[in-house]
Amino acid sequence: MAEKRPRIFSGHRPTGHLHLGHLEGTLRNWVALQDTYDCVFGIADWHALTDHYDNTEPLAAYTEEIAIDWLAVGLDPKRSILMIQSQVKQHAELELLLSMVTPLSWLERCPTWRDVLSQEELPEEMRSYGRLGYPVLQTADIILYKSDLVPVGKDQLPHLELAREITRRFNNIYGPIFPEPQARLGEFAAVPGLDGRKMSKSYGNTLEIGDSPEELRKKIKTMFTDPLKIRMGDHGHPEGCPVFALHKIYSPPERVAEVEAECKAGTLGCVADKNDLADNLIRALAPIHERRAELEADRAQVLRILSEGNEAAREIAEATMVEVRRAMRLPFSGGE
Ligand code: TRP
Repeated sequence: MAEKRPRIFSGHRPTGHLHLGHLEGTLRNWVALQDTYDCVFGIADWHALTDHYDNTEPLAAYTEEIAIDWLAVGLDPKRSILMIQSQVKQHAELELLLSMVTPLSWLERCPTWRDVLSQEELPEEMRSYGRLGYPVLQTADIILYKSDLVPVGKDQLPHLELAREITRRFNNIYGPIFPEPQARLGEFAAVPGLDGRKMSKSYGNTLEIGDSPEELRKKIKTMFTDPLKIRMGDHGHPEGCPVFALHKIYSPPERVAEVEAECKAGTLGCVADKNDLADNLIRALAPIHERRAELEADRAQVLRILSEGNEAAREIAEATMVEVRRAMRLPFSGGE
């Protein structure tokens, strides 16, 4: 009999299209982990409500686009469960139960909550009970599947720290039901956005996974480059240049070395260099774009995969909840 493999849970919020930061920061890692782990990947649509509660209209489309991106990059529904958080109600039930044993002070000192508090222009109603409880829902997402590992980007580490604390507290009170989930960071280069800052939807500086070759070319033309290199012949400084950072990810190593030398020597102009980067990026993304086009042509298949994933997730989730309700000695625990 096959040995039980450690479980992984991770997810994305459907608040926009996925971009190269997601691809390099999390998705490549997830795809590789499928070989060794039992994986559940969730589209966290309830989490999207914590700051988009009054803009629910795009949720359905973003959810579908994320599923298409996931499948196109190689998440494999034969091996991994791809599901939608809101379609497995046990996430909400576990969040509620965990909230009873989570001291308010733990949530109040979470750096992402302090961030919310520090934004003075933010309307009061954005500082909601739900937003404060974001990490509790995230903890529920993870431990509902008794996950051992959570592959995420660095920005999620405070939430993982809290998830471990909440899990430990639950286990201390009711018995050792859950493994303490560990964060697992990928080893990937930070992806700069078009303006050289971290690639992020909120900065409007992204190259999206689903952008067409024409869009990619157009956006790359607008990229910031070394401000000291104004005309051909000026010596460039590739270390700080976002175009060069993307070359390092998407261009063949020989070419990266040439670009570095030619840029420094002043023999390579930025316009030609951007064209070259665009060619290489488009080539590197071609297999993903091909699969994306197939999936876009068969959206019914995408929805079927999600619905089967939800079903499989529900089964695991309900088995966990029976254990949880019994451990807490709640009436009507189910599972008899
Ligand atoms: N908070 C994560 C993000 O913004 C998304 C997420 C929701 C998640 N639930 C999760 C990530 C559980 C890992 C595990 O990216």
